[in-house]
Amino acid sequence: MTNYDYSKLPELPTSVFLANLKRPAGLKDDWLEPKQREYKAKEHKTWDILFQRQLDILKGRACEQFFDGLKLLNFDSGGIPDFKKTNKILKSITGWSVVPVPMLIPDHVFFYHLANKRFPAGNFIRKREQIDYIEEPDVFHDVFGHVPLLTNPSFARYMEAYGRAGWKALDYNHLKALSALYWYTVEFGLINSIDGLRIYGAGILSSAEESPYSLEAKSPNRIHLNVDRVMRTDYKIDDLQQSYFVIDSFEELFKQTEERPFDDIYQNIGASFQYASSAILDTDHIYQRGSQEYALRGGHTSGAIPV
Ligand SMILES: [Fe+2]
Repeated sequence: MTNYDYSKLPELPTSVFLANLKRPAGLKDDWLEPKQREYKAKEHKTWDILFQRQLDILKGRACEQFFDGLKLLNFDSGGIPDFKKTNKILKSITGWSVVPVPMLIPDHVFFYHLANKRFPAGNFIRKREQIDYIEEPDVFHDVFGHVPLLTNPSFARYMEAYGRAGWKALDYNHLKALSALYWYTVEFGLINSIDGLRIYGAGILSSAEESPYSLEAKSPNRIHLNVDRVMRTDYKIDDLQQSYFVIDSFEELFKQTEERPFDDIYQNIGASFQYASSAILDTDHIYQRGSQEYALRGGHTSGAIPV
């Protein structure tokens, strides 16, 4: 087994396929902004509008660990959180911190920060006309969606393990497979609770449309998480998901990842995904077999109603 040095940026094999992102002038190779942006009153107000709207929607839908995190971090005190205050609390609980970055950052830099318990967050907030949807993750998605759960020790360990797993994915040149795991857990994961399914994925938590859809719509599949299967499953980045994967607990999520070296997966998968995003397998533990009506009607681009 290779021993990696997670304290330095991973070396990029010359053949590795990465998104071609251009680093803004003045930033070092860790892509970190020197400080958090000073937001204007109007921008804080945008946060407040989004925050209140999501809180109303997420009542009875988000997992309790998310609400616990919001409370612990005082995110209900109004305005975009000051990272200095957030980090003081977050570091004392799980050792994590949130750090500002200008835009989407390259995968290897993202892995490096996660492996060192730093969560990179967009140093900007969407404009009012983008209130319902923004392609690039902004501070609302990154901080409201991702940071509260970093107060949960098991989830925080999973995120760190995920970052460390990036080194191996780079060695095998199979970043897409590892990205699929992030997508279906950290961004779009659901979790079982005694009161039924709840949301923990940040992509859902920060979306007014996907929060009810993920739990209540008849179109999508809801399937119990199997890490091997999910790493072979395609995903859509620009529409509501066709499948959601469910965990029993964050401990289960951490164990499924930590106990898997992933080598056999990377050695045995091809360059493309094996399963479509709508696939149901004989081996799946299914909570709901989705009708896929929304996707079959053409999804967002054809104005289909999310049912
Ligand atoms: Fe995200």
